[in-house]
Amino acid sequence: MKKRLQQIQKKAKEEIASASSWEMVDKLRIKYLARRGLIAQEMSQIGSLPEDERPEVGRLANEVRKQVSRLINEAKTRFPRKFRQVGPRIKGQIVKSKDITIPGKRPPQGHLHPITQITEEIIDVFSRLGFSVVEGPEVELEYYNFTALNIPRDHPSRDPYDTFYVKEDVLLRSHTSPVQIRVMEAAQPPIRVLIPGRTYRPDTVDATHHFMFHQIEGLMVDEDVSMADLKTVLSIFAREVFGFEVKTRFRPSFFPFTEPSADMDISCFLCKGKGCAVCGQTGWIEILGAGMVDPKVFEAVGYDTEKYTGFAFGLGVERVAMLKFGIDDIRLFFEDDLRFLRQF
Ligand code: DAH
Repeated sequence: MKKRLQQIQKKAKEEIASASSWEMVDKLRIKYLARRGLIAQEMSQIGSLPEDERPEVGRLANEVRKQVSRLINEAKTRFPRKFRQVGPRIKGQIVKSKDITIPGKRPPQGHLHPITQITEEIIDVFSRLGFSVVEGPEVELEYYNFTALNIPRDHPSRDPYDTFYVKEDVLLRSHTSPVQIRVMEAAQPPIRVLIPGRTYRPDTVDATHHFMFHQIEGLMVDEDVSMADLKTVLSIFAREVFGFEVKTRFRPSFFPFTEPSADMDISCFLCKGKGCAVCGQTGWIEILGAGMVDPKVFEAVGYDTEKYTGFAFGLGVERVAMLKFGIDDIRLFFEDDLRFLRQF
């Protein structure tokens, strides 16, 4: 083993002397001095020598290692090391451009679609009143879209809603109201939910109609919920979204799933009620449908109609967005024309 160590030392010396670059020397460092290098391999065998030989061989091995290490360090000083590339840097990275003061390219940044913006604004108002957000399926059962909402098969009020059927009893929902039923089937009062989502109707597309649009549904059920609660909550909503000076009025209406039912108008926020093109010279703008939940609907979900009352409402998001942003054609929302969308 002594001999082998001496040979290793000799060989290392020769190889180091003939190395011609920093990198070559470093390779030799690994070959001889690394943890599994030639010298370490020898040293690992010292333990198997007779006991009286070990100290001497050990000393020699250490000596060889020191020598080789010294030679390698010396040799490294002979060569310049290519530590780093040269050139202008930004955050440590070499940049190709010769002039790093030229302004960079700004990555395009998008923003929320106006419909999403309005949806979030409305959710924000109602969440401060304790409403949480729930979503339901866009492909819906006929039972939820109509029957459970007190719209029987032959009822004429199905006509304007009658929609795209996927199968006999499966359709694209024509409003967000079916989610009311799903919520009440899944939970007991008190309930305060807001239900945003896409809806579908076989309408001929024009400036104010589209086969797909967005609604937001609201539902509150508890003991002692009254029409006064409905009016208070919806008036707060109107003021928060359309401005504090806006007035509301409720006109009798009809929906199969509410009794009594009402349409809510807001005073025209453009002409302040004087009469203009937006409000059709009436000073009022219809904004949503609402009412007290019909007991038939509670029966469909198994709620105690003596104990609980509630109100519901539904509004069209596009309509709110068109009024707020002054947009006169609903089709603009869905054409993905960036010249339009960038304005919001
Ligand atoms: N679902 C109705 C529609 O699409 C809107 C609506 C009216 C929803 C009155 C309601 C309500 O919850 O109480 O025209």
